Amino acid sequence: METNNNQLLKYCRNVLDENRRGDYTIPSGKIYPHQWLWDSCFTAIGLRHYDVARAQRELESLLRGQWDNGMLPNMIFAPDFRYCLERTFWNSSGAVNATKSIATSCITQPPMLAEAVVSVGQKLSQHDRQLWYRKMLPPLISHHKWLYAEREPNNRGLAVQIHPYESGMDNTPTWISELLKYHHPWWRPIYKYLPLDFLINLLRRDIKPGNKLTRINNFDSLLYIDILWRFRRRQYDIKKILSHDRFLVEDLAFNCILIKANRHLVAIAKEINRALPEELLAGMKRTETALDELWDNQTQSYYPRSFKQNKLIKETTIAGLLPLYSGAISQKRAKLLVGKLLDPQNFGANYPVPSVALNSKWFREKRYWQGPTWINSNWLIIQGLRDYGFDLEADNLTKTSLELVAQHGSNEYFSPITGAPVGAKNFSWTAALTIDLLESE
Ligand code: GLC
Repeated sequence: METNNNQLLKYCRNVLDENRRGDYTIPSGKIYPHQWLWDSCFTAIGLRHYDVARAQRELESLLRGQWDNGMLPNMIFAPDFRYCLERTFWNSSGAVNATKSIATSCITQPPMLAEAVVSVGQKLSQHDRQLWYRKMLPPLISHHKWLYAEREPNNRGLAVQIHPYESGMDNTPTWISELLKYHHPWWRPIYKYLPLDFLINLLRRDIKPGNKLTRINNFDSLLYIDILWRFRRRQYDIKKILSHDRFLVEDLAFNCILIKANRHLVAIAKEINRALPEELLAGMKRTETALDELWDNQTQSYYPRSFKQNKLIKETTIAGLLPLYSGAISQKRAKLLVGKLLDPQNFGANYPVPSVALNSKWFREKRYWQGPTWINSNWLIIQGLRDYGFDLEADNLTKTSLELVAQHGSNEYFSPITGAPVGAKNFSWTAALTIDLLESE
């Protein structure tokens, strides 16, 4: 594998070229053939260093999928005939607010767009940046207004997520533990007697012989599909979903990213002398205040909250470190989180940062979001460390992240114990964020 930085940069650019599909970049050839929301944002953050026009197009192309109500879907489907089953399953045309020009999923993902817009803006001249901001601010405002209008019931301050895919960390233990508690379709008790595994494996693009333990299991993913099916039957009507479902989470990672995105929105508007709507500013304030409700004094940690039960979900996952990225916590708490990051019982693995704490009963070295190290969450933590002045820790995490990719390639995720590459090869956000980390060194 490539050793020096120039070779690594070249290798990463090649990955992004290989995954390029015209104006946008897919996460990885075989498994992820569509455009994903936060993937494209991370990709643009890397692209900006050597092709700022392509980075702009990457983000603009996300707007193709924006719904009339401002929602940004987590997936915009590739038009190929091969994927017609997925498009038909979601049936976005059945949703009142969906864009009619292109097939999309009907749920969202963490709101990374504002961060990506600002990152790309940093690479433009003042004149071009202002033009860029003028173009991107209206869709950003409409996206954030949608988040507050539809996802912040009762003005509680935190955005509610309706499906684990919305967290971007599909099978993270906080969501899976809620799922197992609150989602009981009729077929659940008899699932183990049904010979479904063979059939499901055939349908899943991510399952190959020998990799079952590195992916979300079939039972959980069937429950996920079941939930989506119910959404579809309700034509994705958020009022009905919020009033009927018990499986709703105020996700910690999502809300930390929202807080940071809100701050970016304010900065963008200020630079081009635009005012943000008053009700949006009020919502932003509520979110910053409400973050404190996710703090648990006893364990000195932040957790997501189960929306209907109004209870913290006390599983120790990578999301617990993301308040660092939000920038909205005190220096004292930031220091406590850094302590957990470095603690060998907690997140201080050989190849940090594991997506679940090493001492959690949920920890699985190679299973997707239940243990492996991901470069995008490392990147978010590095930004937070720098913000709070933990430069040494940020440098160390940058170094170990770059080593992983230099030694093993641009994989989707890695074992935090041995550094072994897992998941899809040639994964776009790993390559893009490696470029960003190299260029920011
Ligand atoms: C998986 C990940 C999600 C990502 C998507 C495409 O669903 O959990 O975060 O956006 O793959 O890469």
